Amino acid sequence: MKLWGGRFVEGSSKILEEFNASINFDKRMYAEDIEGSIAHSKMLAKQGIISSEEQRAMKDGLLEIKEEIEAENFVFHIEDEDIHMAIEKRLIEKIGQIGGKLHTARSRNDQVAVDIRMYLKKEGTLIKKLLEELMGSILNKSIENKEVIMPGYTHLQRAQPISAAHHFMAYFQMFKRDYERLEQSIERMDELPLGAGALAGTTYNIDREFVAKELGFEKVTENSIDTVSDRDFIIEMNFVISMISMHLSRFCEEIVVWSTTEFSFVEMADTYSTGSSIMPQKKNPDVAELIRGKTGRIYGNLVGIMTVMKGLPLAYNKDTQEDKEGIFDSIDTIKISLVIFKEMFETMKINADRMYENLEGGFINATDVADYLAKKGVPFREAHRIVGEIVVYCEVNKRKISELKLGEFKEFDEAFGEDIHKKISLESCVWERNSYGGTGRKALEVQMNNGKKYLEKIGG
Ligand code: ARG
Repeated sequence: MKLWGGRFVEGSSKILEEFNASINFDKRMYAEDIEGSIAHSKMLAKQGIISSEEQRAMKDGLLEIKEEIEAENFVFHIEDEDIHMAIEKRLIEKIGQIGGKLHTARSRNDQVAVDIRMYLKKEGTLIKKLLEELMGSILNKSIENKEVIMPGYTHLQRAQPISAAHHFMAYFQMFKRDYERLEQSIERMDELPLGAGALAGTTYNIDREFVAKELGFEKVTENSIDTVSDRDFIIEMNFVISMISMHLSRFCEEIVVWSTTEFSFVEMADTYSTGSSIMPQKKNPDVAELIRGKTGRIYGNLVGIMTVMKGLPLAYNKDTQEDKEGIFDSIDTIKISLVIFKEMFETMKINADRMYENLEGGFINATDVADYLAKKGVPFREAHRIVGEIVVYCEVNKRKISELKLGEFKEFDEAFGEDIHKKISLESCVWERNSYGGTGRKALEVQMNNGKKYLEKIGG
């Protein structure tokens, strides 16, 4: 018989049971469910709603159930519907009718809300750690490659020379924002829902603050109706994970492009690439592609839960049972993606020579020629036009700008002087861009230092 079976004359059909049940996926919140129940029972005893002997029996029973589950001795039955009822039923089996008092002043609606919040807080903290580790790898790679110069791109066309470290540190910033977003989401979900009852609160004299303290929540929720129907925090976590995934995906896309024969900027370690079953020469960046691809299902989970919530009347509706599989999947997917990406990135070889070679041609220092003139007093717009003409001249005569003699420069503008070649060398173009946040040596040093300080701060 079901725990809620009193009202029902006929048992439910097998297929309905399967359709209705969430136990197959919500069992992963067993530890949170048990912890929540123990805290609730403590509060009931403290408030004199149950006796302290009853509370002790409940607590011991619940801890035994936890052991059973962890030792894989616990049988999950589909007819128990969800983890909340499975545990409660087993408790009653173990300690008799006293176990039936556990659900006093509580509903499954606020129970599921507390379990998922606790679970997401815990997983969110783990993901933060993984982000922190990835930022550490990015910083290390940047330090190792801070002297490496490569083309920077806009529209995937060679634009201006940059330090490879500057390029990597751009991702550091993205993951730093993700880290902060995650932290803020965890902070926002850090409110105890337990005590909302089915939707309207309870007539028992409960102490929600006490339960909040027991379970490590910062505060208690304000409105019981909102409490049992709110899934914003799940959506938010889905979004934050989508953003992380999008950032990983962009990085992966670059790695895929960079590992082509055409670019050959990087070489993947053998352990992080795979061969082709037909083409013997191939070494494929499958790992990067898979991480990029997984972004699709992560976005799917976000859109899924947004759509489930759209149009739901207050308060709890069974639709919200659909909140779990998506976020669980996104959590699993992002955790493994972050771990694998980090290892792939760390073992990836940077081909500095090849990056440097690619700076040739494409007139990557054209902006610096224009800046040179502008610094000599030529209005920038005018300088821009002149350099455009120089580029055409070089194209026609198959020359690089840096190969032109001073005399040739002077034919385009009198302002050109002896120092032109030095000022437009690739090294000057990169290392002198010292505006705050730029690729210049000094600016980069500041940036990497700030990155290091940030990691020290969050690492505690
Ligand atoms: N398994 C349900 C869920 O995941 C738990 C809450 C059910 N409450 C109810 N009144 N049916 O949402």
